[in-house]
Amino acid sequence: MQKLKIRGGKPLFGTVSVSGAKNAAVGILPAALMAGGGCVIENLPDIEDVRLFMDIFRKMGADVEFDGTSMNISGEGMRNPKADFELVGRMRASYYLLGSMLGRFGRAEVALPGGCFIGVRPIDLHIKGMEALGATTWLERGVLMAEAPKGLKGADIYLDTVSVGATINIMLAAVWAQGQTIIANAAKEPHVVDVANFLNCIGASVRGAGTDVIRINGGRELRGCSYAIIPDQIEAGTYMIAAAAAGGDVTVRNVIPTHLEAVTAKLMEMGYSVTEGDDGREFYMQVRSDGQRPRGVNVRTLPYPGFPTDLQQPIMALLTRNKDASQVYETIFEDRFKHVPYLCRMGAEISVSGRVATVYGVDGLSGCPVTATDLRAGASLVVAGLMAEGVTAIANVDYIDRGYENIEGKLRSLGADVERTDN
Ligand code: UD1
Repeated sequence: MQKLKIRGGKPLFGTVSVSGAKNAAVGILPAALMAGGGCVIENLPDIEDVRLFMDIFRKMGADVEFDGTSMNISGEGMRNPKADFELVGRMRASYYLLGSMLGRFGRAEVALPGGCFIGVRPIDLHIKGMEALGATTWLERGVLMAEAPKGLKGADIYLDTVSVGATINIMLAAVWAQGQTIIANAAKEPHVVDVANFLNCIGASVRGAGTDVIRINGGRELRGCSYAIIPDQIEAGTYMIAAAAAGGDVTVRNVIPTHLEAVTAKLMEMGYSVTEGDDGREFYMQVRSDGQRPRGVNVRTLPYPGFPTDLQQPIMALLTRNKDASQVYETIFEDRFKHVPYLCRMGAEISVSGRVATVYGVDGLSGCPVTATDLRAGASLVVAGLMAEGVTAIANVDYIDRGYENIEGKLRSLGADVERTDN
């Protein structure tokens, strides 16, 4: 039951380096279990979701060694396509074991996924995809069972909703399917492309990732490889927003600027100075803020390349002290405003009507005890805490640890007054 205590009102200065992308990592690790040899996955974030996967894989018989950045992983010794019920229930991305195990073993047993409660979050499209590839699926005591004793067969699959999870899961299974699979209306997020690149690195043929039509020619031999994961666009965006919120001059390193265009555009629209650069080794984004109250802006979450839903909560904290009202329209998840009552407790004025939150700018926020109800709600409260006068104590830090590596260390290196306490 740890808490983050932030004494706000201090501007941030210096450089922070972004870790590997969580949402790419949680797709690539189950994919690595499919390779017919060991893989070395580099630039992994040291976050709870990665460590949970490690425990799940070991229980399934895989060999896994992780030094906090780089993981040696081999699924060669695995004989068991059954994921531990309790561990799986703790993370959303465990659903990727459905595609990877079904492909590799012809059957999979995965408990219905846990993760952040930000809406209904069905997995009907994942199931539709597996069934289109020839699997039979059924639910047994909270465990999703899938079987394809005669193997999988390529198919044309149209996703009714753009879904990151369904796109990646179907890609994982389809690399085992005989013939061609076409995923139409596929998600285009950078982590979808990263998983596709990794699959190609182990010998699969996945073309078109990053567009809305992905073609997979299945049935190829999969071998081990070394692969470095892309930087985390959401972590980068969170530090850019935090820099704007706290004031100061922050350089966010190890980023891919094109992945950050939506958040860069919003910060610039508000009047912040955002510049991108390349020092010959890495790309970086520099955010400068003079602490003045910026203009109100409207934010509408959309699939990539639109404004990411994962940054909706952090940017809403920033909007609380804008000069004019801002509107935030959440189009992806139906219940992603759980941070709002806590921002209001800190002095924000926000009214919510369905999927639209109207944020009326106030002079400032004041610190108080608050609770992270999910991962990005936690990030939102961190941003609010950096802006607020006095101490903000954020309970349920474990949500934040699921997606941010060493958040207090990184913020402290920028001059923030942040500590982790045991109660
Ligand atoms: C992933 C990300 C999450 C991000 C989200 C949207 C991971 C591990 N998580 O979540 O951080 O917020 O993408 O960018 O990568 N849907 C269905 N049926 C399905 C699947 C999804 O209706 O079978 C709906 C969802 O309810 C939601 C929308 O599709 O409204 C998008 O969800 P999806 O992209 O699948 O999100 P996740 O993969 O869960």
